[in-house]
Amino acid sequence: MVLKRGGLVAFPTETVYGLGADASNPAAVAGIYRVKGRPERHPVIVHIGDAGQLERWAREIPESARKLAARFWPGPLTLVLKRAVGTGDYLTGGQDTIGLRAPAHPVALELLRKFGGGVAAPSANKFGRISPTSARHVREDLGHEVDMILDGGPCGIGIESTIVDLSRDRPVLLRPGYVGVSEIAAVLGSAPEPADWDAPRAPGTQESHYAPRSPLRLIAAARWEDNLAGVSLQRAVLSFRARPAGEYALWMTADADPGVFARDLYSNLRVLDACGCDEIWVEEPPARTEWVAVLDRLRRARSV
Ligand code: TXA
Ligand code: MG
Repeated sequence: MVLKRGGLVAFPTETVYGLGADASNPAAVAGIYRVKGRPERHPVIVHIGDAGQLERWAREIPESARKLAARFWPGPLTLVLKRAVGTGDYLTGGQDTIGLRAPAHPVALELLRKFGGGVAAPSANKFGRISPTSARHVREDLGHEVDMILDGGPCGIGIESTIVDLSRDRPVLLRPGYVGVSEIAAVLGSAPEPADWDAPRAPGTQESHYAPRSPLRLIAAARWEDNLAGVSLQRAVLSFRARPAGEYALWMTADADPGVFARDLYSNLRVLDACGCDEIWVEEPPARTEWVAVLDRLRRARSV
């Protein structure tokens, strides 16, 4: 088996495709960083088959973690816990915590079951680029650099898991995702505190994530018409509106349902990016709870 001998396996999850390696093998995990071109201090998520394996990776498992795992696993939720003695710095970027998730995709679960151990896996894309939501995306990005690509069809959720940090006094939402704050609050009794992912960061520390190659502009719906007028750039557009008259490299009409928008977002961004435009223009979805995860990804994908 590729994982057992230290190789890299790209596999589908319900969120995005992961680039997996044996989480107990430092050399194998180093391969992930090499292939992704990822800085060493970025921790990886360890994927496990079920909550029964939490003890292997975490040394303190609060009641909140048990409850969330019982409610959402297998599923698109990652828990950050204090790491177990013996889990290496190579998994956690030197931090005292570890990210754990039981994915819901049948192919991922089968892989985890057959392998038996934990599978370290970030998204199967080059660092800073758009996450893959199909086996073809993985092939385009990483091709021959991985030992095996398991094709489980397109991902149903399409954006990365919700991440909740339970290693501190109070739960903190590190990354919004398909599992919403109100669903988490229903289990915990109160909402996790928001991380400062919306706050301005020091110059130079803000990393581009989920980014296409062409410059991406996120344009508020109210300013859409103003921006559209009198521009001679070749634009590739993702908008809720129907295509108007005028020259566009590509016009995609976005789905008004946040779940469908999220599912198709990364593959749409890839298509927009590949059409040979000067800029990608995306119409900002409404600032409502059900759009929070999508808005987070779009803000990280934009270039200005
Ligand atoms: O849906 C997902 O979570 C996908 C699939 C493959 O499971 N994985 C994924 O992995 O998105 P990646 O590496 O692209 O993003 C992992 C995120 C990073 O932002 C990382 O900083 C955070 O998880 N993370 C992992 N371990 C952490 C820890 N111990 N403390 C804080 N953040 C952590
Ligand atoms: Mg990623």
